[in-house]
Amino acid sequence: MRSLNVFVSLMAGVGAVSFPDPSGPHPVALRVQSMTDKSRIDPYSPENDRHKRKLMTSLFWPIDDKASCTTKQVAYMPPATAEAYGQQAAAMGLSNETFAELTLGVCDISSIKGCSSKSKIPKYPLAVFSPGSGISRLLYSNMARSLASRGYVVITVDHTYDGVVVEFPDGSVIETADIPEEGDDLINLTKVRAQDLSFVVSQLENSSSRSSLLKGLPGKIDFNNIVVYGHSLGGSTAAVALLSDSRIRGGVDLDGRFVDPALSKGPKQPFMMLGRPDHRTEDSTWAPFYNNTRGPKVELAVVGTLHGSYTDVPLVITALGLPAEVKDQVSSVIGTIDAEKLEKILFKTLSAFFTYVFEGKPKTFLNAVKASSELSIVNSKLPNN
Ligand SMILES: *[C@@H]1O[C@H](CO)[C@@H](O)[C@H](O)[C@H]1NC(C)=O
Ligand SMILES: *[C@@H]1O[C@H](CO)[C@@H](O)[C@H](O)[C@H]1NC(C)=O
Ligand SMILES: *[C@@H]1O[C@H](CO)[C@@H](O)[C@H](O)[C@H]1NC(C)=O
Ligand SMILES: *[C@@H]1O[C@H](CO)[C@@H](O)[C@H](O)[C@H]1NC(C)=O
Repeated sequence: MRSLNVFVSLMAGVGAVSFPDPSGPHPVALRVQSMTDKSRIDPYSPENDRHKRKLMTSLFWPIDDKASCTTKQVAYMPPATAEAYGQQAAAMGLSNETFAELTLGVCDISSIKGCSSKSKIPKYPLAVFSPGSGISRLLYSNMARSLASRGYVVITVDHTYDGVVVEFPDGSVIETADIPEEGDDLINLTKVRAQDLSFVVSQLENSSSRSSLLKGLPGKIDFNNIVVYGHSLGGSTAAVALLSDSRIRGGVDLDGRFVDPALSKGPKQPFMMLGRPDHRTEDSTWAPFYNNTRGPKVELAVVGTLHGSYTDVPLVITALGLPAEVKDQVSSVIGTIDAEKLEKILFKTLSAFFTYVFEGKPKTFLNAVKASSELSIVNSKLPNN
């Protein structure tokens, strides 16, 4: 550990670090917003302070190639979240300022020029993302930007009282309620999370709430093409949302275990399971979920990945340019695959799968999968839609 301690002092005051540009062709704008669901009392709010369910969201918006904008660097995380993840970074031997100093390059909305003519307004599919249990949506912002750069409107959602800390625009912070991750508690939590995703879709669909949410963003959302995806418990959340919300056409689980009702019933919409090579043997829910899923399905493995690979952490580590011995230390969490290569594989595959969901051409999708030597098809049953 001594070399890591030396490293911490070397890292202090290193200054701003940013992510590499995303692999898709579109520049991406970002809008961070809170939303309150007036129809739900938050079941996790304290008994002496019951309130409506309020969520934080980040909306990633692709900019059409006919438009232009200037890129600005924005803070990757607001202060309380950066501090919480800074403590985790310190536990891995990194500087506790790692996340406070990290920035993300996004298109400055006020600078957008030359939107397309009224007759050719671009329309983008909508992808709603659910994070892993206890994890901030912000730890997936770079991944969301990557998918958006491939022509998707992506919205990431914090599940309040589940995320380690959820920070609102007025500076208020809601910390985790440490909801038990087992039995009925876990089933209820996943259901609440799935309701959060449906509520976010409704807010975007509702023309009066939409006008303020999307103000100044050129183009439209194609509400006939809605998909959900998530990491860890977020993948199960996506599957539960598919069971209860027929507006959603397909979903993806990134390396997460499944809980009921999705586990025993399985969605009928197309579903992709994508994870680390040993997932099926290490997680007893994967085989039955695959069997019980009633629609088109595919299970893929990415060589060199672990559970932590499916977050922004691998690219954070790359952006920091760490010495080899520290990289070895973190590879036990994030795997050994090159982070930029993983980003390309993941978002090429997600984008190809969602195109299959919308257009029903399995060969095109399977050819895209076969083009990556790092990907293997563990199981698949993909009829023409
Ligand atoms: C990092 O640790 C130092 C010393 O304990 C503290 O002063 C600073 O506020 C911490 N930074 C963050 C972002 O938590
Ligand atoms: C789960 O939700 C049901 C229905 O809302 C409720 O009756 C039950 O008490 C909850 N169980 C737990 C463990 O939270
Ligand atoms: C749409 O949003 C408006 C404004 O937030 C709200 O008053 C209305 O109830 C919403 N409509 C539906 C159908 O949810
Ligand atoms: C899944 O289905 C296959 C074929 O029907 C069967 O052989 C296997 O035992 C099932 N596995 C589980 C975990 O249900």
